[in-house]
Amino acid sequence: MSNVTVRTLTPSETAAALPELAEILSDCVEGGASVGFMSPYTPQEAIPYWEGVARAVAEGSTVLIVAETDGEILGTVQLGIGTMPNQPHRADLKKLLVHRKARGLGLARLLMDAADAEARRHGRHVLVLDTATGSPAESIYERLGWQRVGVIPQYALMPDGSYCGSTFFYKSLPTD
Ligand SMILES: CC(C)(COP(=O)(O)OP(=O)(O)OC[C@H]1O[C@@H](n2cnc3c(N)ncnc32)[C@H](O)[C@@H]1OP(=O)(O)O)[C@@H](O)C(=O)NCCC(=O)NCCS
Repeated sequence: MSNVTVRTLTPSETAAALPELAEILSDCVEGGASVGFMSPYTPQEAIPYWEGVARAVAEGSTVLIVAETDGEILGTVQLGIGTMPNQPHRADLKKLLVHRKARGLGLARLLMDAADAEARRHGRHVLVLDTATGSPAESIYERLGWQRVGVIPQYALMPDGSYCGSTFFYKSLPTD
């Protein structure tokens, strides 16, 4: 594999990475992934979303992790830790995204390992996510140690406007 680095971004690093992050999100939507946005979706249109993430990173409610290949950010995942006071041990896994040109190289696995490590660092041992039912992403979470809970039909739309269900997963990390 090329030279891959996985790291957690600071608020200023997040601000500097906005164009690369916007390119990844646009590429995933245009590739047919149901990740919150409708097609067509340009990198420019994705900037406001990432500006919101940058604010969440700055206020400490989101941990933003990226994977770089030869210095270029090509994958990302977020850990939402701005939970309610009665859920200080829980986190939401969000927006696992790998650019189409870097798929199948193990970036998602590295990002998910890093998310586990960040969750532990923040005292979070119950992790939750949802993903489009029937998507390639759905099949990888069980390989990565997540438990499938069930499906909510017609939960969201695919980028082309058709309905898609959402499959919910959780992962319990060991507490020591
Ligand atoms: C899902 C996604 C993040 C996977 O990224 P990736 O970097 O290609 O995945 P990896 O190479 O790290 O593969 C991780 C594991 O999943 C498997 N896998 C990867 N793509 C797969 C596919 N399309 N179908 C089945 N299994 C797949 C790999 O074999 C690997 O398992 P292994 O390590 O046991 O061999 C990527 O396809 C993507 O960004 N999709 C669009 C966005 C999306 O749907 N995100 C999920 C939002 S919840």
